[in-house]
Amino acid sequence: MDGGQPHPVLAGKKALVFGIANEDSIAYGCAKAFRSLGADLGASWLNEKARAFVEPLAQALEASITGAVDVAVPGQLEAMFDQVRSRWGRLDILVHSIAFAPKEDLQGGLLDCSAEGFAKAMDISCHSFIRMAKLATPLMTEGGAMFAMSYYGANRVVPNYNVMGPVKAALEAACRYLAYELGPREIRVHAISPGPLRTRAASGLKHFELMLNEAAHKAPLGELIDIMDVGFTCAYLATPFAKRMTGELIYVDGGANLVA
Ligand SMILES: NC(=O)c1ccc[n+]([C@@H]2O[C@H](COP(=O)([O-])OP(=O)(O)OC[C@H]3O[C@@H](n4cnc5c(N)ncnc54)[C@H](O)[C@@H]3O)[C@@H](O)[C@H]2O)c1
Repeated sequence: MDGGQPHPVLAGKKALVFGIANEDSIAYGCAKAFRSLGADLGASWLNEKARAFVEPLAQALEASITGAVDVAVPGQLEAMFDQVRSRWGRLDILVHSIAFAPKEDLQGGLLDCSAEGFAKAMDISCHSFIRMAKLATPLMTEGGAMFAMSYYGANRVVPNYNVMGPVKAALEAACRYLAYELGPREIRVHAISPGPLRTRAASGLKHFELMLNEAAHKAPLGELIDIMDVGFTCAYLATPFAKRMTGELIYVDGGANLVA
């Protein structure tokens, strides 16, 4: 409290968010939630084409660090973390909200997924989180929180999720191993598993509308989620209120994962 005013719970925290494509992006929900609770933001766009959509959103959230990051282009991720080091000197929160698989590999069954497509999906959607964690760790000098976005199709077969099922399973396992390795530094790592949301990435899945309908029908809470539900879940997990939680898989799906 300062002069009777409560401090926002993330005031002074530095949060770096990867994966904003537009205002529907889960990463944008995370960035908005962190900012609304007082954090300073860093945000990236994929390339020049995406910049026109992402830069105005980053500006509206007063992001103090921005730049292009394609995790498949050597040096771009490192350049973003160089900015963090020189401007902020430290980091508290990291969000990986990135996924990609080549369309022809994503839209066929797993049996038909090419080796190249599998490797690309795994590199961009999973290994890039490990690379980020490696770069973020020395900057999280006062501990921190890292998040990666998964999906229910990691653990159960969801028709049409195809190659992304094994990729998200690897991402969830990576979160657990990173939580184990980073626990001694008070860095906590969680996989977040949102229910289906209408985003650009989701539009690449065949019959996505069926997934949405089923999710709303199955969820005990009876409705679909929105990006702010995911954002505020991450925000809570980044606060000291959740300081003894790490390595969890957190469903933000209205309880749909409970129902057979
Ligand atoms: N939408 C859903 O239903 C849903 C549900 C559960 C989990 N997720 C996961 O949430 C995350 C965010 O997806 P979203 O639904 O917000 O869609 P989105 O399209 O808004 O976000 C995906 C992001 O990945 C980025 N990306 C792709 N390739 C990249 C690369 N090479 N380098 C850097 N960035 C790259 C895109 O630029 C985009 O910003 C993904 O991991 C997705 O699998 C989505």
